[in-house]
Amino acid sequence: MCGIIGYVGPRVARDVVVSGLRRMEYRGYDSAGVAVITDGALEVRKKAGKIGNLIAELDEAPLPDTEIGIGHTRWATHGGPTDANAHPHVSGNGRIALIHNGIIENFAALRLELETRGVALASQTDTEVAAQLLGVEVGAGADLADAMRTVCRRLEGAFTLVAIDATQPDRLVAARRNSPLVVGVGEGESFVASDVSAFIEFTRNAVELGQDQVVDVSRDGFTVTDFDGSPAVSHPFEVTWDLSAAEKAGYDWFMRKEIFEQPKAVADTLLGRYTTDGALKLDELHIPEAELRSIDKIIIVACGTAYYAGLVAKYAIEHWTRVACEVEIASEFRYRDPIITRSTLVVTISQSGETADTLMAIRHAREQHAKVIAICNTNGSTIPRESDAVLYTHAGPEIGVASTKGFLTQVAACYLLGLYLAQVRGTMFGDEIGRWMGELAATPPLIQQVLDGLDPIKQLAAQFIDKKSVLFLGRHVGYPVALEGALKLKEIAYLHAEGFPAGELKHGPIALVEHGTPIFVVVPPQGRDQLHDKVVSNIQEVRARGALTVVLAEEGDAEVEPYADVIFALPRVSTLLQPLVATIPLQFFACELATLKGYDVDQPRNLAKSVTVE
Ligand code: F6R
Repeated sequence: MCGIIGYVGPRVARDVVVSGLRRMEYRGYDSAGVAVITDGALEVRKKAGKIGNLIAELDEAPLPDTEIGIGHTRWATHGGPTDANAHPHVSGNGRIALIHNGIIENFAALRLELETRGVALASQTDTEVAAQLLGVEVGAGADLADAMRTVCRRLEGAFTLVAIDATQPDRLVAARRNSPLVVGVGEGESFVASDVSAFIEFTRNAVELGQDQVVDVSRDGFTVTDFDGSPAVSHPFEVTWDLSAAEKAGYDWFMRKEIFEQPKAVADTLLGRYTTDGALKLDELHIPEAELRSIDKIIIVACGTAYYAGLVAKYAIEHWTRVACEVEIASEFRYRDPIITRSTLVVTISQSGETADTLMAIRHAREQHAKVIAICNTNGSTIPRESDAVLYTHAGPEIGVASTKGFLTQVAACYLLGLYLAQVRGTMFGDEIGRWMGELAATPPLIQQVLDGLDPIKQLAAQFIDKKSVLFLGRHVGYPVALEGALKLKEIAYLHAEGFPAGELKHGPIALVEHGTPIFVVVPPQGRDQLHDKVVSNIQEVRARGALTVVLAEEGDAEVEPYADVIFALPRVSTLLQPLVATIPLQFFACELATLKGYDVDQPRNLAKSVTVE
């Protein structure tokens, strides 16, 4: 939420900043702005709306070429999406320009204090209080980094701040608490940003800042301290993907590109985990096996799509490990005083690694002495750093706001974790684990097969332009797939959609069904249990009431055919693995429908990619 970038070096700062903002626009698109220093004064351009508005403003009123600049793309929290509330904010004495990601929770008291001291505030934002406080400090003679530390000690909440001082055109100072910040280290140039995509074009050498740290950045390097000024440790890392991964490569939307990247993303996530001697190895999980054997409960905590990945994981983990597994929405977790002991394993799932609710859940769990494993896609993010261990998904950067390859790779990583726990705890024989790993390893070509056959879904979307509501049904792991299908439609096609467990429909929601109500149904593979037949019965129940049924079923499933108005054939896989193939048509359907409706698929209204506020 909110993208921030700062640059100091020999390039034209304005251009570096604007290109970084373009790449981070998925983090928020309510307004955008840039500030540079020229001849000892700040120059700022900022505009409400998407970055195109800022660029038009820069065309009309160009900024000079300078070697330092900061920029911001906003997801509004305090104060509407107006020009005045856009960042950067400038202190009353004209010295400081500041950008911010997060929420300053005690801003009202600080605002009052500033107003009492005669400082006039020009916006309704929480951010401006930090800019004004910093202005007061440097105006009284404080060094910029000292001033930043003083101000940070007074702030409560979540913040990444980046500031420049009009009198120091060779230096920027940034700080972070509970919001992301990485430093990019180039040759004779430096960057700070919310994420590495902002500067990947120029350097892959990055440094992750820790909690409550201030970084003082010049073109030749940086120094890191804590908020009290003591030297602090930061963590260098190399970004493993390049600029092309952060671009659309000929697709109309990042989301569509990311849907089509899923065979590779899943293959990369599974890669190198299973050794030739038949053992599953998760090298990055530095938790002693004895501790994993002593676990008596698993709690998976996540938000949104990642939470649905957790719901899938519950079925697999309980089946394979026989350990009770609960799945919790992160924003609810700590407020209900969950029962956590030293024997609880908390597994968090997060694509961005920055989701504030998930992060707070981790802190709560660790305070109760639980072990925390993070499943995460973003190297250098906060969640892995604050967890005991991390299992990385290797999806590459996910830029479309609606998560797609993030979900599939999270599900794949959860399967790996489940099988690994089964191996460590001895609840499955090695050859059984090997069979599952073999089936998992065979899924990328099956995912490709689904992608190659999506034309009927495209045609279907054209028939849904005027629909007002869509229901999704599933049982077992098909239920989270139904939830995910509904979420995708809501978030990018702005269409009311709800997912239900197919068996639950009769307990109320079936009253919604009338002639023509569209219902997508995920049908489990035909198998030994009765799951398949039960879902087929549920389809008949809604069909009898006039529903239009769109059925996703295993290829060759003749039993369901008579009850489907539209049928989409899925490749054969075990029930537990079916989400890896069944989710794709639903992602694609939402993308297609939103495109037909003329919506901005990658930047849906009111949303932002990385939810760094609670
Ligand atoms: C939906 C979506 C969100 C995220 C959720 C968690 O398409 O993207 O629901 O899944 O905000 O985000 P991460 O995984 O970054 O913690």
